Amino acid sequence: MAEGKVIPTRDSFGRLQDGTEISRFTFKNKNNITVRIINYGGIVTDILVPDKNGKVVDINLGFDDIKGYEARHPYFGAICGRVANRIAGGKFTLDGKEYQLAVNNGPNHLHGGVKGFDKMVWKARVDDDTLVLTYVSPDGEEHYPGELTVEVRYRLTNENELVIDYTATTTKATPINLTNHAYFNLAGQGYPNIDDHVLWIDAYTYTPLDQNIIPTGVITSVEGTAYDLRTPTRLGDRLKYVNNGKGYDINFCVGGQLGKLTRVASLEHPPSGRKMEVFTTEPGIQCYTGCNMATGVFGKGGVEYQKFASVCLETQHYANSVNQPNFPNTILRPGETYRHTTVYKFGLTA
Ligand code: BGC
Repeated sequence: MAEGKVIPTRDSFGRLQDGTEISRFTFKNKNNITVRIINYGGIVTDILVPDKNGKVVDINLGFDDIKGYEARHPYFGAICGRVANRIAGGKFTLDGKEYQLAVNNGPNHLHGGVKGFDKMVWKARVDDDTLVLTYVSPDGEEHYPGELTVEVRYRLTNENELVIDYTATTTKATPINLTNHAYFNLAGQGYPNIDDHVLWIDAYTYTPLDQNIIPTGVITSVEGTAYDLRTPTRLGDRLKYVNNGKGYDINFCVGGQLGKLTRVASLEHPPSGRKMEVFTTEPGIQCYTGCNMATGVFGKGGVEYQKFASVCLETQHYANSVNQPNFPNTILRPGETYRHTTVYKFGLTA
């Protein structure tokens, strides 16, 4: 084993209903952090991290077996694409041609459509300390143009970083927006609330929404609003003031230079001392605190997941960018390479 690197091991995570065997990859670093990922949906199934007393719990919502992930669920731990987040009406015009994508969330297209990247079996190989997942999305899949070849590289370092590198190329111009949709609760998955979590997001602006949960197109200051998280804020004190008590489900325009890996958010849980920092090359974070979580979702260990009991920090481009010329570009053209890196770094509060 190479010095200082965390080499993943592979085992079976069972079979899909059609008999396809799913592989699971386990990374365990020298600080007792374990991350497990499957090649179904590129899903991060487990993130086990110690607290200030060394007690290890899983901070990532999900299921114990493949059956749970194959059933309908809110994208736990999954890679979302071809375009994560919403596209208004599932419609867009590109180079003079109109496209109508699958509509799967009220009037909108969400997280890649009816069968997004979260439900695909990805080709998997281990390259030294990296799990390399590839998926070739055919021309016309969910009515998107062009064959898109996507590679997602996952690794865990001994500096406690879960590094996710995304690249993609296409045969025709297409919108693209990839993210990972992990749901975190630093008290442990299944804990019934996130009140004691302290969230910081380095965003001076955000994108307000219309009644269909689509950005109006305006990029506006967080100053004086419940979206100002530039000072670390205890969620239990804040969530009741956000969106009539529904909590966060919105895009923050994060600081940093587009394409440059920048520390843009942190989530801390003072009672356990667990902490997570987020670094990304992306211009946005969709912060989602679980307001749409359905009842009757039983996760790991049979625990029923509650609304408002987890935080997603989905690094990505802004929702509906393909229809908003003033938002950063999401069109990938033949000959170009889409690149996105996000790092979730785990640790202890000072
Ligand atoms: C969206 C939410 C949605 C959730 C699960 C988030 O990215 O912003 O509106 O309910 O994903 O689909």
